[in-house]
Parts: sequence; C-alpha cells; structure tokens
Amino acid sequence: MTQLNPGPHDVSRILGDLNSAGADREFIAHAELHLPRLHELFVRLYGERADGLERLASVVDLARRSWTERPRALKALDRERDSSPDWFESERMLGGVCYVDRYAGGLSGIRDQIPYFRELGLTYLHLMPLFESPEGNSDGGYAVSSYRRVNPALGTMEELAALAADLRRAGISLVVDFIFNHTSNEHEWAQKAVAGEPGYEDFYLIYPDREMPDAFERTTREIFPDDHAGSFVQLDDGRWIWATFYHFQWDLNYANPAVFEAMAGEMLFLANQGVEILRMDAVAFIWKRLGTTCESLPEAHLLLQAFNAVLRMAAPGLLFKSEAIVHPDEVVSYISPDECQISYNPLQMALTWEALATRDGRLLQQALERRHALPEGTAWVNYVRSHDDIGWTFADEDAAELGIEGYPHRRFLNDFYVGRAEGTFARGVPFQENPRTGDARVTGTTASLAGIEAGDAGGEDRVILAHALALSTGGIPLLYLGDEVAQLNDYSYGERPEEAGDSRWVHRPFRPEQRYAQRTDADTPAGRVFSRLTRLLEVRRATPELGGNELVAFDARVRPVVAFLRPGESGFAVLVAANVADSAVEIDALTLSGLAPEALDLITGAPVWLGAGITLAAHGVRWLRVRTR
Ligand code: GLC
Repeated sequence: MTQLNPGPHDVSRILGDLNSAGADREFIAHAELHLPRLHELFVRLYGERADGLERLASVVDLARRSWTERPRALKALDRERDSSPDWFESERMLGGVCYVDRYAGGLSGIRDQIPYFRELGLTYLHLMPLFESPEGNSDGGYAVSSYRRVNPALGTMEELAALAADLRRAGISLVVDFIFNHTSNEHEWAQKAVAGEPGYEDFYLIYPDREMPDAFERTTREIFPDDHAGSFVQLDDGRWIWATFYHFQWDLNYANPAVFEAMAGEMLFLANQGVEILRMDAVAFIWKRLGTTCESLPEAHLLLQAFNAVLRMAAPGLLFKSEAIVHPDEVVSYISPDECQISYNPLQMALTWEALATRDGRLLQQALERRHALPEGTAWVNYVRSHDDIGWTFADEDAAELGIEGYPHRRFLNDFYVGRAEGTFARGVPFQENPRTGDARVTGTTASLAGIEAGDAGGEDRVILAHALALSTGGIPLLYLGDEVAQLNDYSYGERPEEAGDSRWVHRPFRPEQRYAQRTDADTPAGRVFSRLTRLLEVRRATPELGGNELVAFDARVRPVVAFLRPGESGFAVLVAANVADSAVEIDALTLSGLAPEALDLITGAPVWLGAGITLAAHGVRWLRVRTR
C-alpha cells in the first residue's frame, strides 16, 4: 500500500483543525472513527495528484457542514440505527417499489397510498427516479439534470422531505436512486464541461478524436446497443464523450477528485432530506482504465468505500444498496458493511425464472448452496423482477458442473421468455437484442412472464412460488407494486415516441386500478394472487426464522424441487420447498428422516406428518416449521 505522507492534510491535522474550529463533538467522534479510512482511500485513489489530499480536507469540511444542518429527527434516527445495526435484517422488513407518476400521479398521491403500504406491511419504499431530467426520453429518470430539484411534474424537494418524514412515522424508510455514474447532458456540470469552463473540463471523459474512444472500445462491452454502438457518442463540435447507457447520459470522470467532492455534496444533500437508503446505480461502471472492460475495477470499490466513509461521518444511519447486475462473484464483491450494506440479488431472481422455464431446480439450488452467504452486517434484497430487464447472470462455471452450457442455455431462456420457444407460458418482450453478439435480455411483468397473460393454468401458482422464494431466502424482499394484483404487460408504450424504443416500458404499467378494485374478489386472478401473496407476507412477518440470512440448502433429491432450511431457535427451523414442475412431486420419508415427523405448515396453519414423506403440488411451495433431530 502507498505510504501515507504526513503533510498538511494528514488525519491528525484535519482532526486537530476540527477540534480547534469547535466542531460538534458527535461529528468529531464520527470523524475519529472514519477519517483514517477515508484518508487511506483518498491516498489510494488520488494520491498521485497534487490536489488529491487538498480535496480530502474540503470533503471533510463539507461533511461537517452537512452534519450541522442535519435535522434533529434524522440525527435521532442515526443514533437509533447505531444501537440496532441489524435493523434491516428483520423478518418484518418488506420493500416496495414504484414509479411516482405511474403509481400515484405525484408525491402527494404517494402520500395518499401510505395506508395501503401499511396494509401490505411495507417498511421500505423505493421511489423510482424523481429528479429533474430531460423532457421526452430520460431513461425513466436515470438521466439526472439536478439532484437537488424534483421533476416538477411530480412535486418539489420540500414535498419529498415531508413525504420522507410521513413515511418514517409510518415505519417506512424512503429509498431513492443515487445515479452517480453519469448525469444527463443537461446537468449544469455537463454544460459547463462542454463549454470548457475552468474547473469543469475534467468532469467527464471528453476526447478530441476517435483515438482514445477506439482504444477503450477494444475492451468495453456495449450496454445499450439499440441506442448507440460502443461506449462513446459524438458531441456537436465533433469531440467524443463517454456515454455507457443512452447518448444523453454522460459518464462522470471519478479520476478527478473534484467530481468526488461534488457528488459527495449531492449525496449528503439527499441524506438530509430524509432519504434512508440510497440505491447506488450502475456501480460496476464508475471507474475506467484503458485495456480493461472498465467494469468492476478495484477503484470502483475504493470509491464506494470512500462515499460510505463520508456518509458515516455526516449521516451515519443511511444505507447503500448496490445495483450490480454482473457475474455473481462481482455482485458479492460490492457487499460489505464498509461498502454497500445491501444489494440486489440478481442471481436468485434470474435463476428463479430459469427454474420455472426448465422445470429443473438444480441451478437455483446450487446458487443457494454456494452463493447465498454474505458478510455479517449485510443483506440481500430479493426480488422477483425489477423495472429493468432480466439478464441471465449465472456463472458459466457453475452451470458447466451441472452439464449446462451457458451460451445456448441463455439463448433458450431468452426464446422461452419472449414467447418464441415451443410450449412456453411466458409473454415477455426482448430488450437490447444485439445481433452481433447474440446477446439479449427479457422484459415483462411477473404475471405476464409467469403465464397469467397466456392463460396458462400454472400462471398464478408460479407468481406465488416466485414470491414465496424471494420472501423466504432472507434479507429484504422487494415487491414491484402492482405485481401483488397480478398486473399484466402494458403494450401502450409502443404508442409513446419517447418510450417506443425501450421495451422495459412494457413492464412499467400505470397503477392497475381495475385489478386493485378486484383484489378482494376471489373470482379474479388479481383477487386470488393478492390473497395468497398477502398471506405469505403475513406469515413471513410472524416467522423470525425467515429474517437474517442463514440458510442451509436441503437436498430434496428430486430435480424440480428447490429446498432449504432457515434455522431458528433450539433445533427448530423452517423448511422451504418449492416444486417448479407442472405436476406434483414427492419428497420421500427417507429424505426427510433427519427431521422430527411432527411439523407445522405455516401457510395453512395445519399440522403435517413428515413420517410418510410429503407431496408438493404442481408449482407448489411449502413453508414448514420443522425440528431437526
Ligand atoms: C440502472 C437502472 C437502469 C438504467 C441504468 C442507467 O441499471 O436500473 O434502469 O437504465 O442504470 O442509469
């Protein structure tokens, strides 16, 4: 590691300055804990630059000011979180996600939904990007023009802060995206950078000709090939700028510490509005180096850790959630108490769909067995689907062990879920099909992918099965609001020019009013899915074994069955068993003989006798409280 040079910006000097400036005692205590780490990270990231450590001093000052302005209620929350650091691992946690406009018209409409959120038992609400962004296509708000202004069509920043407080009173943590890999081309920094304004020239990666873009593109991958080839787009003046996603989303240059400082300011601003969890968008892309894929480089981790250290000083109650939809080894590399405490679990999500298509639970079972464990103090966010496409991010090495070849298997899954394979029950839509590489991803609502849209008899059961897994493997389950009433694909996006080119809009429907109206009507798919799913939610809340992350894979010795134990107190555990096949299967008595024969079916409330084996219905799932012997 680089030697730390004592100098005007070393740790003890900065701490000394804080003391003599009369900084708040609590802030100084945070700084004493986290500044040494931040300093070390700065040395590693920026040590070679003359201005690197000067920036550190101004970042600490920024944190100090932010702490001073932090509302009292949020400081109280910081202390509460500090005294129960595992709060987010509880079985009572339940996430929901929605678009503000589509689900509720605006921020005030979201507030009106709080009673419903409580009815569901939400403790976490992710509002999709709500910041000011370009008119027309803004990648669903993922092109941010200001982190301090709410999109006026949705409300204001004051309303957001008030909503955060209302949610908190209802026991719900507000989650928003922190889209820090890029800004929109309309962001003030972007405009200044293009104009060459001093201090902003190096905020983005701009090159005069194709030499560097060509060199980088030899090793980078195309993320949105429907929009543009490669990783760069051309500016009006002929220069080239890095744009991983849409042409109007320009990647920031984090090799410049001024960018770190500027973004830390935006992050702390949001923290002080009452946001409790920041969803760290596109973390794999934040650092670039020639000759690499420019994904998940070591510096990406150092940067996240540095942001984490800044937060721990000025808003210590906040969590980071990582959005890394990459190889499973890389996904876990972002998860630690010092980096991102929680993370999407894209592997479990994708393999749940994989198992439903193949009627073979082995890949998912293998993933639960070897890729589920996490460091202490961290948790998965388990979901059935998101606002994005499904990418088949399983490890080819894992699949090969089961005799499954990655490339053709992914092609099969894509064909299956976009309704091209024979006998498919799914009605998904392809996303970003790349004819050059054969790569593609899939979009669609849970109900449409699971077979309800196609009228398949197993559709509703599959929706329940997929959720039952997400609700029982541990961590924070995340519900895409509307899926609880089995909302279907919305093809009307094709008529809206700003959406027509992005098939992800098919699974971002407007709030399905009619289906919500049917949610108590057992004669409708909405009613049946809602009552079965809310039963699962209720059971999960009352089942401590389903909190935390400890999971022991259980070999049910039947291919279509995914099974595991969630250990609890004094020899008790919950056995979860799900059958992805279209017909019933048996788990025989011998396989269950390590368990006492008396068990309790938590979903039905009925006693179960394991002594003769158990039957799992087609697409059936059981949560059984068992005793190991
Ligand atoms: C994330 C978002 C996705 C967006 C991309 C670019 O992957 O989930 O919707 O397109 O980042 O910001």
